[in-house]
Formats: sequence, structure tokens, C-alpha cells
Amino acid sequence: MGDNETVICRCEEITLKEIKETIERYQCSAREVKLRTRAGMGPCGGRTCRCMIDRLVEQLGGPSISNEISLSYRPPVRPVSFGVLGGDVK
Ligand code: FES
Repeated sequence: MGDNETVICRCEEITLKEIKETIERYQCSAREVKLRTRAGMGPCGGRTCRCMIDRLVEQLGGPSISNEISLSYRPPVRPVSFGVLGGDVK
């Protein structure tokens, strides 16, 4: 596996080390890793890091992905002006 200081979740700046320690300490699922570390809760909604978190849980013996509620995707957060919402700006 890669360098422990490798950032897995760029949005929340969560490293491989933090995720590995969380999985090993709590024997937790990807969903629990997300809730405990905030990995996957950033502005990209987990699009970048979700697959890596799933694989890390699988490799480190966490609960099987098929046995749990999968991580949810959230659409990316982007500012939208009221003008765009109201249809004044094209
Ligand atoms: S990289 Fe993890 S939420 Fe964006």
C-alpha cells in the first residue's frame, strides 16, 4: 500500500494513515470511516475518494461492501447566484 501520508480525501485532507488507523481500530465499514473521519464529506461529495475508501476497507478486513449501506453520493456544492436561479442571467 502507498505512503501513509498520502492524502486520500483531498477535500477534507484525510490521509491514508488516518483511514487505516480508523479501520483497524474500529473494524468499521466505509460508511463508518466516512462518519468518523469526514473522508467523503467534502465539496466533491466523495466522487474522488469514495472508491479508495471502499478498497481500503476491503483490503484491511472491514465489513464487506455488499453487507452494508453504501456511501452516498452528494452532488458537488457550487455557488449559484439568485439571478441564475431566477432566470435573469443566461
Ligand atoms: S476528495 Fe473526499 S470528499 Fe472530495
